[in-house]
Amino acid sequence: MPLTRKAYRAAILHSIADPAEVGIEASYEYFEDGLLVVDNGQISALGHASELLASLPADIEITHYPDALITPGFIDTHIHLPQTGMVGAYGEQLLDWLNTYTFPCESQFADQAHAEEVAEIFIKELLRNGTTTALVFGSVHPQSVNAFFAAAEKLDLRMIAGKVMMDRNAPDYLTDTAESSYLESKALIERWHGKGRLHYAVTPRFAPTSTPEQLTLAGQLLGEYPDLYMQTHISENVQEVEWVKELFPERKGYLDVYDHYQLLGERSVFAHGVHLCDDECARLAQTGSAVAFCPTSNLFLGSGLFNLPMAEKHKLNVGLGTDVGGGTSFSLLQTLNEAYKVMQLQGARLSPFKSLYLATLGGARALRLEERIGTLQPGTDADFLVLDYNATPLLSYRLKQSKSIAETLFVLMTLGDDRTVAQTYAAGNLVHQR
Ligand code: GUN
Ligand code: ZN
Repeated sequence: MPLTRKAYRAAILHSIADPAEVGIEASYEYFEDGLLVVDNGQISALGHASELLASLPADIEITHYPDALITPGFIDTHIHLPQTGMVGAYGEQLLDWLNTYTFPCESQFADQAHAEEVAEIFIKELLRNGTTTALVFGSVHPQSVNAFFAAAEKLDLRMIAGKVMMDRNAPDYLTDTAESSYLESKALIERWHGKGRLHYAVTPRFAPTSTPEQLTLAGQLLGEYPDLYMQTHISENVQEVEWVKELFPERKGYLDVYDHYQLLGERSVFAHGVHLCDDECARLAQTGSAVAFCPTSNLFLGSGLFNLPMAEKHKLNVGLGTDVGGGTSFSLLQTLNEAYKVMQLQGARLSPFKSLYLATLGGARALRLEERIGTLQPGTDADFLVLDYNATPLLSYRLKQSKSIAETLFVLMTLGDDRTVAQTYAAGNLVHQR
């Protein structure tokens, strides 16, 4: 194959470590006039334009983005495809919200044509918002996952998804059985897991909607194939936590239910974790599991405030999740805006560089994909964004007052949204142009 080489010149910023581990200054690299070189969909060089240009052939194609910032693509570690049509549903907290709005909306995915239509809308929305990798809940219907992966494959995106397993405490029209969920998940794994940049996640919705038999089979699936993911929800809402105690009185608590069925591990991502206790954080960390912090959802559904400092204390892997449609935005910039406020309400700070880490390298680590995505290190996939400093009149004016990249980054995360993302590149291809 002939080499396709392209270079991109702009201000360039990426996370290279967790500020909680190395301190803020050692956690990032910033090139005020930087150059990113991409060979056949992978990053081959990153550095100061003045230094790198000298080493490149004179005829190399260079795209210049003045007044813009290149960052790695954003990583959303928790989102629901079949809830795209019900974002912003009024008035309820988790359990009533599920019954009143969520389940009826997800039922429409029994129809293949509907699944395909929404999958296209959903992927466009991810890319418009700069999300290049997401860990995605489908509906209970295998066609939701087939539609999603088929659309992601066309664009060569790195995506992870799974069919919801749910065999009790939900309407009949939306439940599978322990056996059918096992067989349908297995067929999807055989078809999609490891194909191109796609990965499969075994997806029991949450403990209340699975029988012990179904949770057993979910654990069994994880043992049958290498590198499968597991995604579910945990300790999001106080009533939910109480319900789990009633349903599984023999277990020590919510996490212990999943632990008992062997669902913890290095590729397991638990959404929310708002009401986890110290011991549960320690056990999650010990098993290499990760938590998806979903601030817009936790505020919108009145679930509570995620304790990020406690997770950091335990060295627990944390990624960011939009949790659309419990969350109210596909934008990880807007998600970080709310994350900052969630920390403020707990008397804590969220530095802009920690925020950048959470949206990129932290998410990649939560998904064990840091060798491929989450940074702009040479050798990794060329999934990156061009953020426009002049996206709106207010952003433009505000950034002209900025005295540092820290201030610029923080303002991007406070005022920024989909309008800020001018271009999205995945595997070196331009997949969104505003
Ligand atoms: N817990 C179980 N299902 C869901 C869901 O669809 N969204 C959220 N936010 N929490 C859940
Ligand atoms: Zn969710």
